[in-house]
Amino acid sequence: MPFDVTALRSHFPSLDHGLAFFDGPGGSQTPRVVAEAIAATMISPLSNRGTISTSELNAERAVAEFRSAYADLLGVPTTGIVHGRSATQLTYDFSRHLARTWRPGDEIIVSRLDHDSNVRPWIQAAERAGVTVRWIDLDGASLDLDTYQPSERTRLVAVTAASNVLGTIPPLREIVDRAHEVGALVYVDGVHYAAHHLADVPADFFVCSPYKFFGPHCGVLAASPELLETLQPDKLVPSSNAVPERFEFGTLPYEMLAGATAAVDFIAAIAPGGSGTRRERLAGSFAAIHEHELALRAQLEAGLRELGDAITVHSTAPDRTPTTLLTLEGRDAREAQIHLAGLGVLAPAGSFYAYEPFRALDLTDPALRVGLAPYNTPEEIDRLLTGLAAFLKL
Ligand SMILES: Cc1ncc(COP(=O)(O)O)c(C=O)c1O
Repeated sequence: MPFDVTALRSHFPSLDHGLAFFDGPGGSQTPRVVAEAIAATMISPLSNRGTISTSELNAERAVAEFRSAYADLLGVPTTGIVHGRSATQLTYDFSRHLARTWRPGDEIIVSRLDHDSNVRPWIQAAERAGVTVRWIDLDGASLDLDTYQPSERTRLVAVTAASNVLGTIPPLREIVDRAHEVGALVYVDGVHYAAHHLADVPADFFVCSPYKFFGPHCGVLAASPELLETLQPDKLVPSSNAVPERFEFGTLPYEMLAGATAAVDFIAAIAPGGSGTRRERLAGSFAAIHEHELALRAQLEAGLRELGDAITVHSTAPDRTPTTLLTLEGRDAREAQIHLAGLGVLAPAGSFYAYEPFRALDLTDPALRVGLAPYNTPEEIDRLLTGLAAFLKL
């Protein structure tokens, strides 16, 4: 059942400013409850984690509630949830933890569809360990699985759950199954995917960023606690060696954890009449979000088609998120961004750290990215299309 978008929007103070935000893939707007959870944690009695004072217990609770919320969101036990500064930081950390056991002759596989944060850390770790890097290439907007050749030598496959520029959702289950057949681990970048779908990925590691789905700026990694037990990072002597604490360096940002938890609870409450466990309510909400975003995407794509050959749509994979990458014949996408911003419509131009996809698609100039979020409306799409039509006539 779809949700009431007007009711949803009333939770976002920033939407009162008359701007139409199509820049969700870069970071979503923030509902009041998330900001309030951050503030409440900071102004309540707060000490380091402990079991004696209220202030220690408040810190302890922020951590426990965060792990519980992300265990529900990402489908792993609470001890499989690792907090990080960002997805990029977590991927760099885990590339170093995992590369400790790589040896010359080993191989890793990365993809041309990925944001650079799930490419470069692995390539740099492979170079240091003397490990061969193989690629899954692109065929148009999709991964070319003929070029995916895991072997007995493959130690790791790093692949995205959804492209942050093309929206492409690759056939992850097949990729993961084939990696597992040869004993390789799979590290999935779920940063873009997790803003649109409930994570249900059979991967070994799944990383996401709450600021893409209404939360504060941080990263979260999910893995099985048993797998995490097999990894030993460098760490301080007095810090906990328990899983997942051994992967979280320094004092945790309790207020961020509280905000990130509030984002999960906010999503869980989006589906009308939701009941059951939080995971079940999250599934209902993501189904409602998907329905809403699919309708908006259809409207957007029909409107873009009407604008004719002047616009090339690069997001063409059969399975994709509502994120659409455009180039404009003979026109600079940055100028289109500026024109639209003048109308209060925010659709950024750039390459969005999608370094490999841009090279593979031979996109030398910035492109315009129109990303849909649950708070977008049909009227906002009309504003965008009218603005684009006016820009093309300039
Ligand atoms: C698909 C994807 N992966 C990774 C990242 C990096 O995330 P973070 O900013 O949390 O490091 C982004 C950020 O835009 C992204 O869209």
